[in-house]
Amino acid sequence: MNRVFCRQPDRVAIVTGGTDGIGFATAKYLARLGMHVIIAGNNDAKAQEVICKIREETLNSKVEFLYCDLGSMASIRQFVHKFKMKNVPLHVLVNNAGVMMVPQRQTKDGFEEHLGVNYLGHFLLTNLLLDTLKESGSPGCSARVVTVSSATHYVGELNLDDLQDSRGCYSPHGAYAQSKLALVLFTYRLQRLLAAQGSHVTANVVDPGVVNTDLYRHVFWGTRLVKRVLGWLLFKTPEEGAWTTVYAAVTPDLEGVGGRYLYNEKETRSLQVTYDQKLQQQLWATSCQLTGLPDGSPGAILR
Ligand SMILES: NC(=O)c1ccc[n+]([C@@H]2O[C@H](COP(=O)([O-])OP(=O)(O)OC[C@H]3O[C@@H](n4cnc5c(N)ncnc54)[C@H](OP(=O)(O)O)[C@@H]3O)[C@@H](O)[C@H]2O)c1
Repeated sequence: MNRVFCRQPDRVAIVTGGTDGIGFATAKYLARLGMHVIIAGNNDAKAQEVICKIREETLNSKVEFLYCDLGSMASIRQFVHKFKMKNVPLHVLVNNAGVMMVPQRQTKDGFEEHLGVNYLGHFLLTNLLLDTLKESGSPGCSARVVTVSSATHYVGELNLDDLQDSRGCYSPHGAYAQSKLALVLFTYRLQRLLAAQGSHVTANVVDPGVVNTDLYRHVFWGTRLVKRVLGWLLFKTPEEGAWTTVYAAVTPDLEGVGGRYLYNEKETRSLQVTYDQKLQQQLWATSCQLTGLPDGSPGAILR
């Protein structure tokens, strides 16, 4: 980490996909700052090991795991219910979990997996947690939504008429890129809505760079071979990959600042189409329909 941040023992964070890779490194950094960290993940067995490791390494006992399969809307709703039963605030939500280049298959709700896990899962999760985030943010101390996208969004195309890629020839790369593009559009729309309401919650999106993690388990074998041999040279470590996420989650530089696409801790321009407010709005409305949120009009959801 290029910077040292102040301890934040009174803050609570949720990190999705904190059982591995960038999410694990992010959860560890936040725990080191003294935060109460809740890892949301879909792997109970792995989670126990991960929790013990983070507690041991950070000497922070306020690290826990709550089951959340982002490929299941029922599981997301259950996670939110269990979290709210704890009666704790929520200052940082890190939407990090993801899958890449998985073969064509569906989530429990019948969504194409990249769309369902990477995008719609986080869309629903964030919306269900917005009331707690809004209650937890205060002037000068905003709650923060940090969403992990990817440079792959630059080659993404949003097919609003067929988000699930059900027609034509399925491309795992195209599906991954679309999910990451959707996350950028979602963040910009969310930030606009939050700002319009004068809430003390910000939303930013980050690109971690190319990071040596298991995310690449489904890519072409040649790429995996290059990663195995030269990964240490060409790829960031998971800890380096987590820097920008942690920066967005805690830096005083970004107090009250949202709607930024961050790469290497700096604001960067995302794909031109992500700034199209009409497209942001259309995607939001479609996502509400797909996730069963009560109303396509954001005012109703964000009330
Ligand atoms: N690595 C890169 O070069 C790179 C580049 C750009 C963007 N990113 C983004 O960074 C994020 C983290 O990726 P990573 O590289 O750290 O990959 P990773 O090591 O494979 O970690 C992904 C995490 O997501 C979790 N996850 C997957 N499916 C889930 C589900 N249905 N419900 C809940 N959790 C689920 C995984 O849990 P299990 O391990 O238990 O399955 C794991 O903890 C992703 O959003 C990815 O798109 C990565």
